[in-house]
Amino acid sequence: MLELAIRAAREAGAILQDYAARGFQIEHKGRINLVTEADFASERHIKELIAAHYPNHRILAEESGVSSHSSDEYCWIVDPLDGTTNFSHAFPCYAVSIGVEYRGRSVVGVIYDPTRDELFAAERGAGATCNGRRIMVSDVEKLEKSLLVSGFPYDVRERMNEYLPAWREFLRHAQGVRRFGAAAIDMAYVAMGRLEGFWEYGLNAWDTAAGWIIVEEAGGRVTQLDGSPFDNHTPSLLCTNGKVHDEMLEVLGKL
Ligand code: IPD
Ligand code: CA
Ligand code: CA
Repeated sequence: MLELAIRAAREAGAILQDYAARGFQIEHKGRINLVTEADFASERHIKELIAAHYPNHRILAEESGVSSHSSDEYCWIVDPLDGTTNFSHAFPCYAVSIGVEYRGRSVVGVIYDPTRDELFAAERGAGATCNGRRIMVSDVEKLEKSLLVSGFPYDVRERMNEYLPAWREFLRHAQGVRRFGAAAIDMAYVAMGRLEGFWEYGLNAWDTAAGWIIVEEAGGRVTQLDGSPFDNHTPSLLCTNGKVHDEMLEVLGKL
């Protein structure tokens, strides 16, 4: 499954780059929620590969939902293009994210950033890698010395007052806060040790299915924003290098 996820992510990444080079149609799913021809083409290709190799496995993909014909305990969770707004603006920060869930837990995860040709991968119990090399979370222990990242769900205009207080407090307590616009990349960077922590309120399973296992296999910690156990179907996420997790929870607990 890991090999197939890697192949699918790389091939889908090549499809994205092809569209990036020759142009693409953009549609609106919502006022600020875009989808492009590249999202659909990437998703189609990944689904075809999975169906050809694992016809009994379920697939949950962002643009087409759940494939209903099968009932296997394995479910492939696919974001064919994480960072569509960036992609639409030719801002080079987006990725393909493919996770495999078994009985509610991610067991395989692959995130591929085609712009930098960085492929993050993990398999439960076998560690996490970037382009085949082992990666580990950072060993920064204090929030004060931490570089954090967050994102905004597409209902940000309606729920801004719920999302901004955490920004204010982390800007006050951390070394810096970033917003890259691709949750899968945010999680991969926590796993890689480039960032200490990532929080977001309204994520979907396809945003987190690969990142969850990659962060954990790199030695990090993943919970909901109130510290309770995370799973791919809970929208709130806090993932960190583990060392600053409690300090971040403390800040969130006081909002
Ligand atoms: C979005 C990005 C963004 C995050 C949003 C996601 P999409 O995914 O990951 O960083 O803040 O919550 O929905 O729509 O580009 O696949
Ligand atoms: Ca996404
Ligand atoms: Ca997407």
